[in-house]
Amino acid sequence: MKRRDFLKSGIALAAITTLNPWTSLFGKEKKLNDELRRSDFGADFLWGVATAAYQIEGAYQEDGKGLSIWDTFSNTKGKIKTGENGNIATDFYHLYEQDIALLKQMNIPNFRFSIAWSRVLPKGVGEVNKKGLEFYHKVIDACLERGIEPWITLYHWDLPQALEDKGGWINREVIQWFKEYVTLCIREFKGKVKNWMIMNEPTAFTALGYMLGIHAPGKKGIDKFLKASHHTALALAEGGRTIRELFPQANIGSTFSCSYIEPLKPKNKHQKAAARIEAVMNKFFLEAVLGRGYPIQDFPALKRIKKFMLPGDEDKLKFDLDFVGLQNYTREVVKYSLFRPVIWANQVKPQKRGVETTEMGWEVYPESVYQMLKIYASYPEIPKIIITESGASFPDKLEDSKIHDEKRKKYLQDVLKQVLRAKKEGVPVQGYFIWTFTDNFEWAEGFRPRFGLVYVDFQSQKRYIKDSGKWFAEFLSK
Ligand code: FCB
Repeated sequence: MKRRDFLKSGIALAAITTLNPWTSLFGKEKKLNDELRRSDFGADFLWGVATAAYQIEGAYQEDGKGLSIWDTFSNTKGKIKTGENGNIATDFYHLYEQDIALLKQMNIPNFRFSIAWSRVLPKGVGEVNKKGLEFYHKVIDACLERGIEPWITLYHWDLPQALEDKGGWINREVIQWFKEYVTLCIREFKGKVKNWMIMNEPTAFTALGYMLGIHAPGKKGIDKFLKASHHTALALAEGGRTIRELFPQANIGSTFSCSYIEPLKPKNKHQKAAARIEAVMNKFFLEAVLGRGYPIQDFPALKRIKKFMLPGDEDKLKFDLDFVGLQNYTREVVKYSLFRPVIWANQVKPQKRGVETTEMGWEVYPESVYQMLKIYASYPEIPKIIITESGASFPDKLEDSKIHDEKRKKYLQDVLKQVLRAKKEGVPVQGYFIWTFTDNFEWAEGFRPRFGLVYVDFQSQKRYIKDSGKWFAEFLSK
């Protein structure tokens, strides 16, 4: 039997169910959960898991899908650390039904996923791929039938390659291309899906993809970054306006990466260096969409972006989001540096500071979430915050069909305590989505850093709920 037939047969799911006897597990978890209760967060608090199309779907050339920049990038030698690609990923394209059944089994009420632009518009604009739209209808229906609320990200980094060939985010026409894509998705799915996120972490995909060249499309240079960033910021706001116009009842957000940033020492030069890093990493897109413009005051070199601005752009950057998606994984300690021109700042690596790190090399620092929640809450323009990603990767070992991922479980619990602390202090945080549901393709890192609540054997595509997933399921069951 071929691998895919086996998977389709549902045997894999049956195996998971028998391998994870819920009854015995609930007893063990009880003690820990006594400390942290779902009800402490209030009945309206949203709980979910987050994913992204490229990291899970696979089926990269199936049913009329066009290639995206990530298909090209991951299939180019030397771009992915492990030489792997996302051509199959976790095969969610074929296994979505089984995976969504697993979500239900784990009591997870909200599911965040993204639409692959090139699956519905293979060339980015123009001809629509009906089979692509059908796939997302099936995913949405599979959620709704089980009482799971879909939360859709419109853009999670996988620009159609056909658009990249015309310059991608560097070409100002991208604003129109994005609008066409957003219009298609909203018209198609507004009858079923209320919650929309316009983009995922614009800082990450512009900086990594257009300045540092370590993510798709692999471009480098400050001007490329600034130009791509300005178009991204304009497209974000235009995307928001488009959704609002077509679907006034929609719940519209966008997600932003952020890390709590601290100067190495309380010295002026380090503090200023930290402010520059903060301007790029935390404030850039957030403040633009809030209507505050780009944070040029904190980082004067950013004024170079003005070269790419047309009259009237300043106003077009603003859009009133219904919620801001906060995504946090760590903190950064920053010092002044003579060796990094323009920004004159450098990160003091956690390895140098001798602190605990995750498999990504990120400092384990749950309090960063609290600090960032407080900072977001200090913007009067932000009405509501949802943590749309939070999680950690640690090496997992499958033993006897089990994964005892104590570190991940503890990390999530420690973060939730920080979320509760902020909430009790009046921060308008109204939801928490764990990154991520199943292990998946972690971009330029390949499959090695595992973030999932559910372990994936990438050879057999079998899923195994980790101890962290069992804990979350139990926590949600109350
Ligand atoms: C975030 C991305 C997400 C995932 C996590 C680990 O920056 O949005 O796709 O890669 O990091």
